[in-house]
Amino acid sequence: MLKKTKLITALCLFIFIYFKLSEFTQNAAATDDKYTDTASHLIISGDTYTPSPEFNPYTDIKKIAITFDDGPNVSTTPRLLDGLRERNAKATFFVVGENAKKNKDIIKQMYADGHIIGNHTNTHCNLATLTCSKALNELKQTDNTIFEITGEYPDFLRPPFGECGKVIGESLNMFKVLWDIDPRDWSVQNTDLVVKYVVNNVSDGDIILLHDIFDTSVDAALQIVDILSKQGYEFVTVDEILFP
Ligand code: NI
Repeated sequence: MLKKTKLITALCLFIFIYFKLSEFTQNAAATDDKYTDTASHLIISGDTYTPSPEFNPYTDIKKIAITFDDGPNVSTTPRLLDGLRERNAKATFFVVGENAKKNKDIIKQMYADGHIIGNHTNTHCNLATLTCSKALNELKQTDNTIFEITGEYPDFLRPPFGECGKVIGESLNMFKVLWDIDPRDWSVQNTDLVVKYVVNNVSDGDIILLHDIFDTSVDAALQIVDILSKQGYEFVTVDEILFP
């Protein structure tokens, strides 16, 4: 009798364990399904696929605009252009008219490479401190310089120090472009700090502000392109961010 009870208990225990086990396996399978869903957000690193919750290369192309002010500069800008071309990255250059006049070949190269050339005044003045006619003259001179070199007037304006009367841009039929990410590269002039600041703060659709007149900024820009390209960012001109 005791033996029979033990047998029944053992059988019940077995059945209980069997169902518990199958339930566990089903849960595990369900978790696997969820994992598969998450894993469809893949990031390509080398030859292997590793899951990344924030990026799906098939649907989530993230766009970013890298912009350069104050150039062109003969000792730094050509190296930047070469690096961008090698990486198939597009950028936007807000050039100072006086510098453009001295470096026509660099402006031609920017244009040939498919970058956007914008207006950053003729002498890098603070437009907000000038009379309206002087401010307009600053912008028109650079417009004309760019037109003489490329055959096209610029559509975009970045006022030095981010300041200009609203009327000025409108009266020239230009779009004012400011920025989202400012690592103050002109002040720190430190490649690592600039790279870290940008990479840690950037997100989809941002406009990054740099200056192509410093070697440290050129180095930083190319590293930023390398790092963020691997994270699924495509480097586009500002028009693609502002008018998608
Ligand atoms: Ni500037």
